[in-house]
This record gives sequence, C-alpha cells and structure tokens, in this order.
Amino acid sequence: MDHVPHRGTPRFRSRARLLGPAGAAIAVAVATLAAATTANAGTTLGSAAAEKGRYFGAAVPAFKLSDSQFTGILDREFNAITPENEMKWDATEPSQNQFRYTSGDQIVSHAQAHGMKVRGHTLLWHAQQPAWVQNLSGSTLRSAMMNHVTQVATHYKGQIYAWDVVNEAFADGGSGARRDSNLQRTGNDWIEAAFRTARAADPAAKLCYNDYNTDGINAKSTGVYNMVRDFKTRGVPIDCVGFQSHLGTTLPSDYQTNLQRFADLGVDVQITELDITQGSNQANMYAAVTKACLAVTRCTGITTWGVRDNDSWRSGDNPLLFDSNGNKKPAYTAVLNALNTGGTTTPPPSTTPPPTTTPPPSGSGCTANLTVQSWPGGFVTNVHVTAGSTAVNGWTVRITLPAGTVITGTWSAQPSGTNGTVDFRNVDYNGQIGAGGSTDFGFQGTGVGPSGTPSCTAG
Ligand code: XIL
Repeated sequence: MDHVPHRGTPRFRSRARLLGPAGAAIAVAVATLAAATTANAGTTLGSAAAEKGRYFGAAVPAFKLSDSQFTGILDREFNAITPENEMKWDATEPSQNQFRYTSGDQIVSHAQAHGMKVRGHTLLWHAQQPAWVQNLSGSTLRSAMMNHVTQVATHYKGQIYAWDVVNEAFADGGSGARRDSNLQRTGNDWIEAAFRTARAADPAAKLCYNDYNTDGINAKSTGVYNMVRDFKTRGVPIDCVGFQSHLGTTLPSDYQTNLQRFADLGVDVQITELDITQGSNQANMYAAVTKACLAVTRCTGITTWGVRDNDSWRSGDNPLLFDSNGNKKPAYTAVLNALNTGGTTTPPPSTTPPPTTTPPPSGSGCTANLTVQSWPGGFVTNVHVTAGSTAVNGWTVRITLPAGTVITGTWSAQPSGTNGTVDFRNVDYNGQIGAGGSTDFGFQGTGVGPSGTPSCTAG
C-alpha cells in the first residue's frame, strides 16, 4: 500500500490508555444509553447521519451484491455507495472507445433501488489505467482523457451525487506540488480541463477533487488548498473536496481545522474512504472524525472504504465498523453515538472554565498562541485564540511577520494586510467566545512563518 497514514498527536491514544478497555466499555455503554434517550436519535448509521443532514456511505464492489450478509448490512446501515473499482478507467474503458458499464450499472441500480446516493469514483487517476492509456502521451493522451471524462460522465448523467473527477494528483512529502504522472505530463491545466469537461457532461453532479494524506494541515493539503482557491477565483467548476482519511493510530490534531479551511473556500467537503487501523484508539478516532464532519457545516457525508473488516483493501488492519462476521464493533457504536449527539458548531458552555496557567493581561480579555508548520519557502500558521475569565465579543490578533514574508491565504479571520504587522479580525461566526473558551484561525504564506506570542485585543 503506498498510502502512509498521516501521523498526528498522541492525544487520543493517551485518553484511551487512561480509561483502559473496561472504562472504555463503560463509557460506550453510558453513551449508548444517553443516545437512546435523545429525541430523533437514528438507529442506523444512515438514518442518524440523515438526521444531521448528512449521508453515511460505504465502498462496494459489484461482486459482493450477491453476498446476502454483505447486502443485509449495506441496505440496513448505509445510504450512499461508492463503487470500489467499477468506475475506474481500467473498468469502464478497457480498450480505447469501447466502454463497459455492466458492473458500474449494477451498483447504481442497487443504490437507486434502496434510495442511496452514488459517489462516482473516479474519472481520472494515475493508477488503475488500462494498458492502452499507459502507452499514450501528449495531445493524444489529453484527447483520450477528455473523451473518457465526457463518455463516462454522460453515461451516468443525472445518477451521480458527486464525482471524484480527479483522484490523487498531488505528490506526498513537503513539496506541495503536483505528482508526476502521464496525466500531469499532458500539461498542468489537465485538472481544470477535466472539471470543465465533467461539468459540461453532467451539470447536476457535484464535482470533487479527492486525495489522501491531506487529512491535516500539511504541505500536500496546502498544495490542494491553493489549487482549489485558484479554481474558485478563476471560475473553474469545482464543488467539493474529498479527504480519503486512510488513517493509522493517530488523527491529525488539526483534522477539523483542515476541513474547515477548505469549506471556507466555498466547497463542500466529504470524508470519502475512511478506514482506521484497529487498536485501542480505533473507536475514539472514528468518533473524532465523525464529530469533525458534523462540526463543519459544509461536510456533507462520510464514506467508509468497505463494510466488514474482511471486505477492506487493508484487511490486515481490521479498519472498518463491522467485523468479519458482520457484527458491529465498538467503533460502530462510537460513530452512531457521535452522529446522534453531534451536529453543533458551538460547544456547550462549560460551568467550570479550564484553569489557565498564564492569565490574560488585565483589560485585554484574550490571549493567542501560534502553531507554525514550515517548509523551505513556505509555512502554515494556526492561531489559537482564548478568552479570559469573561466572554469576548469580537477580537483582534496582531502578528508581526518577518521581513519578506507574504500571506497568501487566511481562513476564519480577516487580515488587515499581507505583510509586516498584520491585524487579524474575527469573522461573523467566531467573534463571540465564552469565558475560558477558544477558537482557531489560520493563514499560510511564502517566506518564513511568524514566531513568538502575538497580542490579542478583545472588543
Ligand atoms: C482500492 C480498492 O479498494 C482495491 O480493491 C483496488 O485493488 C485498489 O484500489 N485510494 C483510492 C481507492 O482512491 O480507489 C483505492 O481503492 C484505495 C486508495
């Protein structure tokens, strides 16, 4: 597997260790009782997600539609399907201009018969290409690419909720650049050409860019972020970004912040291929991912990459919500409870404000601190704004940037400029912070990131 699960903080793991398995089991049981008493609580993943205006999907291979245990779970629990392999280029156009839709159509029919959405996956990808494509290059390949997009999107026109128009086009590591591939070598504009072509073929489908290792704020996700922002600025038709979320044993601590910064660009976000290594942290991580999606208004749904552990492409990790016998795992209960209790963007007011080791200077009412992730020539900064012992109504954080540094993008705040000393003012939805509460904003830029502790002024 060439997907390296992103390593985040050990926060969730240490919580699980504190509780221990028995404590975790009690916590799950208590949460289950609490959820069961909630009005309109959903009893399945799909119905609970629908209560929150979201879908809950699974990747499905056509050949498993004849496995009654599989379809029993699928039809009971899920209300969206992604074909696991059936709509990829090698499946739909095995020889040039000879299209095969039999297995893709089977999945679409099953979805329609059960009122499920279909996520189309995927029109263009460097992997799972038929041999004839791998032998093309230049304008011949570009024509074949656009013909493929047109033909497949036209065949499924009106039946697809969202298409992964382009899959995995960015490189891993710190470059934030495009991945080298035969598709990329046809010219850097291949992605926007594909989105325009897909829009023309099926105007009703939401058009997504989908990738992995983009689940936290890092150089790769920032590369994607910059592309989406550029597309929105220039009117290239993009509606959504998919975060595959093939995860290991830790969740990036900025998972939700990352989803939110994309949503703030004016696109929907979706968790498209979720699976998480089984271990003491699995249920906690599934709950955290679910809560993050519910906390981001434009996160429209979650898809797990398979149903049972033995259905998974990484079955050795037992990464799904149902075990190989089709039984619900603790991770299932954690997701269902999170769906039934989540959905608010503001945390409930806490009765006892958390202790502050460094109280804010009297009169200012708020403090701010920075987390900076840098690479040669660029950086991303997250700013954590915390209210003091009284609630804050509006805030401004002042940050002085090193000489030569230029801000290229800001989310969840309004900057006064792009260089030198910059005042970041709250936006509509995050100006009010309860006593002891906090909010985050962020920005990215070229040059060297800021350091030190910025000033924060309330009001
Ligand atoms: C995987 C399928 O699950 C496997 O059956 C197949 O052999 C390889 O592809 N990212 C994606 C998915 O976008 O299409 C991949 O699916 C998993 C990684």
